[in-house]
Amino acid sequence: MQHTLVLEYNNVAQLEEAFALHGKELACLMIEPIAGNMNFVRASIPFMRRARELCTEHGALLVLDEVMTGFRVALGGAQSVYAKQIPGFAPDMTVMGKVIGGGMPLAAFGAKRSVMEHLAPLGTVYQAGTLSGNPVATACGLATLRLISRPGFYDALAAKTQALTHGLLAAATSAGVPFSVDSEGGMFGFFLMPDLPQNYSTVMQTDSKRFNHLFHSMLDAGVYFAPALYEAGFVSAAHTDADIAHTVDAAKSIFASM
Ligand SMILES: Cc1ncc(COP(=O)(O)O)c(C=O)c1O
Repeated sequence: MQHTLVLEYNNVAQLEEAFALHGKELACLMIEPIAGNMNFVRASIPFMRRARELCTEHGALLVLDEVMTGFRVALGGAQSVYAKQIPGFAPDMTVMGKVIGGGMPLAAFGAKRSVMEHLAPLGTVYQAGTLSGNPVATACGLATLRLISRPGFYDALAAKTQALTHGLLAAATSAGVPFSVDSEGGMFGFFLMPDLPQNYSTVMQTDSKRFNHLFHSMLDAGVYFAPALYEAGFVSAAHTDADIAHTVDAAKSIFASM
């Protein structure tokens, strides 16, 4: 931690101040582009745009942690979502895990050639591990990537996710329960508050008793949501329309009792 500055998510002024004070010493800026470790919070477009500009100005690497968003929000990850809105946007380095292994333990990172050339055997940075490039895990990951690269896969996944999020929002609204929800591709998050939070401290203002009631009541109805209010949800290709309908129906009666 002595070599790390922790900044508030989506706080452009604080980010600018950090670069103004420490720009010369900053090696990299790491961002989870759609933060799944505080439920589901998007980096705002101005925040991401300024992050890219400041890194370029100060010679720091922009590192996107796409461990959770990679292959979930889009085939090209969250960076492809941001590139649609910020012309020319790209990180200097990307970190991936989870889906890339298709259920096997696998992680990967990639960067621009100028960065990767620092790694052995071309460069001086040694990187290795017992299971690095494990053939079983990489074969499984590749098979998964082939399946999810099929045309229309992400359109279908997003449509299913939106059927869930729209259904939950309608159920909460008709029961008068304060509720907000957001999704991208197969990743979603909901909050028992009227507006989507922009940072961790706002996420943590959620009434955890109400969240726990919702979580356990849904579990009793056979639906296993992420068990903490600071975790994202994922819809998978295996979920059926009937699964979504059952989830929305169960939420309807639970919201009515809240
Ligand atoms: C977004 C994100 N980044 C990084 C990690 C950590 O990965 P590892 O357990 O390989 O250190 C996780 C773990 O869940 C994660 O969700």
